[in-house]
Amino acid sequence: MLSRPRRNRKSAAIRDAIRETWLGPEHFVYPLFIHEGGEDLEIKSMPGKRRLSPEGVLAEVGKAVELGIRSVVLFPAIDESLKTSAGDESHNPEGLVPRTIAALKARWPELSMVTDVALDPYSSDGHDGIVKDGRILNDETVEVLVEQALCHARAGADVISPSDMMDGRIQAIREALDDEGFTEVSILAYTAKYASAFYGPFRDALDSAPKSGDKKTYQMDPGNVREALREVMLDEDEGADMVMVKPAGPYLDVIRAVREATTLPVAAYQVSGEYAMLKAAIVNGWLDERKVVLESLTAIRRAGADLILTYFAPEAAGWLKG
Ligand code: PBG
Repeated sequence: MLSRPRRNRKSAAIRDAIRETWLGPEHFVYPLFIHEGGEDLEIKSMPGKRRLSPEGVLAEVGKAVELGIRSVVLFPAIDESLKTSAGDESHNPEGLVPRTIAALKARWPELSMVTDVALDPYSSDGHDGIVKDGRILNDETVEVLVEQALCHARAGADVISPSDMMDGRIQAIREALDDEGFTEVSILAYTAKYASAFYGPFRDALDSAPKSGDKKTYQMDPGNVREALREVMLDEDEGADMVMVKPAGPYLDVIRAVREATTLPVAAYQVSGEYAMLKAAIVNGWLDERKVVLESLTAIRRAGADLILTYFAPEAAGWLKG
């Protein structure tokens, strides 16, 4: 036998020297659920994760920063009484998200603040867009998303991340940001976001599930990958700085395809259902938490992701620190 691949695996020194993919806390974006309440609330379907109060979020980010996390993304739970069909609260300058951005930036100016742009937390219909007679109005929705993006930029967001999947929103947001002088605010586009059942726990966490129907007229069909590349071309042309694939673990082939189709940085979102699935096995003692989480994140990076949005961010950062 001339070739014995095991020779390259015989010691930790050799294995470590030739590893093709590695993980570091700089790759992680930590998603945070926030609300107005005075207390942090456990999220049943996401053991270990909580919906954070304004004080709780400062404590949680403090811990994460200590562990090496340099980027967070905010997801608000909004009181039912503030929800409307046009999602007006999404661009209230006194709203929960702009106040939280300002509070976090005041304390950690170096933290990269990512914000989610979509109407679902604010929509009385639980949809990412405005609903009329059972249909999602694309262009009217984009006008509101632009207001939401501006509201986040004015509050100090570094990266605006539209997750709504409306057509044309990247360009509309880019132009509006530039018109107001926010030429340095980045856009991380949810480019290939699938109509996935893996978002279930997230919708529990925020009470943001659609009141009727599903999201299939805007989020992508899980059977498709060429369509993801079409979305990449459009988002690139419209001025996106980074593109995202979501979910991550069950869509590694899409991450790979997107990686090969663009020179832009690629992000992947290890979503709430992926977290819940791993965590369920972990709390039952069926999987080793540290090993399985780091393996799942390594696989997402190996597929071609630069950044990973993951609820395991602080835990993983802690383990990587050693
Ligand atoms: C909403 C949004 C969703 C997620 C991120 N932004 C849910 C949805 O589209 O229904 C899901 C994240 C997760 O499941 O962790 N625009």
